[in-house]
Amino acid sequence: MFEALPEPKADAILSLMAAFRADTRPNKMDLGVGIYKDSAGKTPVMRAIKSAETRLLESQDTKAYVSPTGSAPFCAAMIAQVFGKDADTSRIRAAQSVGGSGALRVLADLLKEGRPDAEIWVSDPSWPNHVPLMKAAGYSLQNYPYYDAATGQVRIDDMLATLSKAKSGDIVLLHGCCHNPTGADLSTDEWNRVIDLLLEKDLFPFVDLAYQGFGDGLEEDAAAVRLMASRVPEMVVAASCSKNLGLYRERVGAAMLLGKNEADATRAHGRLGSVIRANYSMPPDHGANTTEIVLSDDGLNNEWREELEAMRQRMVGLRQAFSEALRKRSNSDRFDYIAAQKGMFSRLPLSTAHIDSLREDHAIYIVGDGRINVAGLPEGGLDKLADAICTVLGDD
Ligand code: LMR
Repeated sequence: MFEALPEPKADAILSLMAAFRADTRPNKMDLGVGIYKDSAGKTPVMRAIKSAETRLLESQDTKAYVSPTGSAPFCAAMIAQVFGKDADTSRIRAAQSVGGSGALRVLADLLKEGRPDAEIWVSDPSWPNHVPLMKAAGYSLQNYPYYDAATGQVRIDDMLATLSKAKSGDIVLLHGCCHNPTGADLSTDEWNRVIDLLLEKDLFPFVDLAYQGFGDGLEEDAAAVRLMASRVPEMVVAASCSKNLGLYRERVGAAMLLGKNEADATRAHGRLGSVIRANYSMPPDHGANTTEIVLSDDGLNNEWREELEAMRQRMVGLRQAFSEALRKRSNSDRFDYIAAQKGMFSRLPLSTAHIDSLREDHAIYIVGDGRINVAGLPEGGLDKLADAICTVLGDD
């Protein structure tokens, strides 16, 4: 049996994480995996989460099963966070999921049941795990061009031209905010152009919303999803609580759908429950229950929003300081785009040889496509980092 299995494929981000942990050099710097870090380089449990966990520990009196779609109040709170507290929820449904990735997978399975022949269109580049995840759900994938490395901008015309060749009924995977790995987001005008095309060509929007609150703010980062929901008949959204609630290992997220009408939405939600039951039966409770407490308690909710906003502002400040350090060291404006981009990631114009040299000669860990985690930038070491980057780049 096992000898017949193909060799396991190393995941670019997870193998970098393991290599960083194994590195014993004291000055090592992790700009790899997408986890938020504070100025001390730590990823602490958020204060609001700690308080909610304490409450949960004291009040929870059963560990009995909930249901495949999880806690209804958690789902309602997530719908309000993503679609807006005044959204018309008659056509919107949600299921608690195993992180954002779990939401992506069960929604992909659901759509496969609805349209078995649809292909999924993924941005080039995208989060590397989008590809194996969608392939594991049985899809064949197509790419649409997205990022212009020379300008740091979205290639909107090329993106639309390619997507206009998709066949009717195909699915388009879009990053709702804070595009991973580029940090280059669509403007409102560009979102409207994408939505026009989806409507014209009968393409189905599948939005990955993993970084709500890391770009322009919690409400602002939901603007694209809300705009989409106001214009399209149907869509799905995979929302993650890993980043904005710092719940990475607890695996908390929501698989959400907007139906053409109430009956469709209810049917799809029922099928989503069956898909979840067939996959892993039911989601874990602890992180979602904690989230539910934070989102439903005014005091904890305010405390969490303040913590999240401080994290966001720290990343905005780091972007500015890092692009200034690079401007000074390189004596050019070629890195200015970093200050204008959004969320946790940006890409540096580095080849594999540059990235290897940064890791081997400078103990700086960067994902193989040049993606850096902005939250991992060292506040006191930006000049040193800029120097290492410009050194390996040389005249390139
Ligand atoms: C990332 O992009 O680094 C994160 O989403 C972590 C992961 O699972 O890849």
